[in-house]
Amino acid sequence: MTRLDGDMEEPADHVVQGCTRCVDLVDHRSQIVNGQGADDTELLLIGEAPGEAEDIAGVPFVGRSGEVLNQSLEARGLDRGVVRITNCVRCRPPDNRNPRVSELTNCRPHLENEIAFVDPRVILALGRVPAEELLQRDIRVTDEVGAVEHVELGGHERVIVIGLHPAATLYNRNSMGAFEEALDRSIELAGLAHRNS
Ligand code: URA
Repeated sequence: MTRLDGDMEEPADHVVQGCTRCVDLVDHRSQIVNGQGADDTELLLIGEAPGEAEDIAGVPFVGRSGEVLNQSLEARGLDRGVVRITNCVRCRPPDNRNPRVSELTNCRPHLENEIAFVDPRVILALGRVPAEELLQRDIRVTDEVGAVEHVELGGHERVIVIGLHPAATLYNRNSMGAFEEALDRSIELAGLAHRNS
């Protein structure tokens, strides 16, 4: 946290305020949805972009996908405050469309600031959009879910686990196993397994 004269605090770089880079998103958003959770954790979960519930609450993953995520974390003895959760894009795309390449590019510095700030051992990409954004290649998530890759981000090598988006489990209950497998791998690699056992 940097300080101004008079002891007023400025937001840290990873907390975005008043960004106007994406005209289409600025026009439709209620607010910017910054990451939430621990500042200092070994596991960072990255989703795509806020949906309606997140746009209203100003917090990532609080809608139905968030319920799946919370329940899966809790089943493993983890409160979501123990990890950190953020998105590739911090403003809700209209009609929940996918973020555009230009929007991912505009929001990328914010994401990189947050990754650098948290400095996690492991990043779990929740679905195709964050997996492709982090790994910079085309990905068929159903074929690669659970895969672990190492990439250089902001001058540091990061461990990326390819995961399913929790919404996938709402459309297809059979995908719960794959969703949990990637989550379990991430928790294990982050050293957070058996915290409460
Ligand atoms: N889906 C996402 O990718 N992110 C959210 O914050 C909510 C739903």
